[in-house]
Amino acid sequence: MFATSFGQKSLHDHLDALGIRAAFDANLKKAADHARALAADGLLPFARQASTGPDMAPMKAAAARITATFENLIVLGTGGSSLGAQAALAISRYIDGTGTQIHTPDSLCPFEMDRLFRTLDPKNTHVLAISKSGTTAETLAQLLACRAWLETAVAEDAIGEHFTFITEPGTRPLRTYGEKLGAPILDHPTDVGGRFSVLTNVGMLPVMVSGLSVEGFRDGAQEVCKDLIENPESAPAVIGAALTQTLNEHKGITQVLVMPYAEVLRAFTRWHGQLWAESLGKDGLGTTPIRAVGPVDQHSQLQLFLDGPNDKFVTIITIPSFGKGPRIDEDEAKAYGLDYMAGRTIGDMVTCQSRATQETLRGKGRTVREIVIDALSEENLGGLFVSFMLETVLTAHLMGVNAFDQPAVEEGKILTRQYLSALE
Ligand code: PA5
Repeated sequence: MFATSFGQKSLHDHLDALGIRAAFDANLKKAADHARALAADGLLPFARQASTGPDMAPMKAAAARITATFENLIVLGTGGSSLGAQAALAISRYIDGTGTQIHTPDSLCPFEMDRLFRTLDPKNTHVLAISKSGTTAETLAQLLACRAWLETAVAEDAIGEHFTFITEPGTRPLRTYGEKLGAPILDHPTDVGGRFSVLTNVGMLPVMVSGLSVEGFRDGAQEVCKDLIENPESAPAVIGAALTQTLNEHKGITQVLVMPYAEVLRAFTRWHGQLWAESLGKDGLGTTPIRAVGPVDQHSQLQLFLDGPNDKFVTIITIPSFGKGPRIDEDEAKAYGLDYMAGRTIGDMVTCQSRATQETLRGKGRTVREIVIDALSEENLGGLFVSFMLETVLTAHLMGVNAFDQPAVEEGKILTRQYLSALE
């Protein structure tokens, strides 16, 4: 699974040095008490997704229907209806998948849609449209565009075979559309919000289509939940929430930086950024998520992280990779004066770079948490998902805001509809 650390010093020594140990202990108690209360209630629905759950059979049927016939799957959905799947699917490039290529045009973009339609064969393409509300303009516009494109090559009586839907029960445009098509509609759980839905069918149906193990993701998540229930005070989610809140209240920390040293976790940083921002940016409060990936962002943002304002809580995610990847030829490297990398692997370099970044950040007085995951696996990713979701909910509790709504973004949606209707 994964382990967290705070460098050579213990977390308590670091907090003592910052003079915020007592404030942290108070927040830790509050967060742990809330975790206990949630656990007593069976923990939150987003965390309760079991690989033996009743949604497995409909997902298996839908995935089998898609993979048996189609070379491509376009997943339509935006925000929480897409980012989790994207983060989970990133590891599918390391397995022998089902052969179905998955495309996730989450942001509405005319050029990207033109590109997809130009490069994919409609006869071999299935569309999975996901929207909890069933009313999201971007997703519905993409859906209508996909239908028109499919109709250029697929007979009308076969068009329904090219679609699957995930939306909440009840009357809503997406559901009505699916019903009219006679296509399968899977229920979006009513008690799980979009950005918390990665372990539900929203994230897990695309995972199943890719050939990754849904059981793996969910079992990994369950393990983290079990640990939190048994030992709330030492659970990474509880410590992370207490630390973020204490740093924000007492040390002017207004940003949370998540920086994996693994390109494969780039999509994970996008998922986390949305989860954190949309859940916690409320009532004039909130900490801004910053995304970076190592080592590449050492050459773009690290200067700021090291030498700019000390306003970030840094989380570095690493995967032990000593000895991994191609080995650099010893003689060749030495011939060019590159003795320091002679005979080392690419994994050796990345490991040393991440260590160096952490040490320099700590040397500059930054608070740095390292999360080490022992391998790139469904279990570990499932564990990370649930841990960060719980950390978000616990931070919201400490802040006194509701993690599950997003009232401020509604105004812009209403205006967009007005502008679009009024276009000449
Ligand atoms: O997390 C959220 O609630 C949002 O980001 C939604 O996922 C996003 O707005 C899409 O909503 P819907 O799934 O209703 O189309």
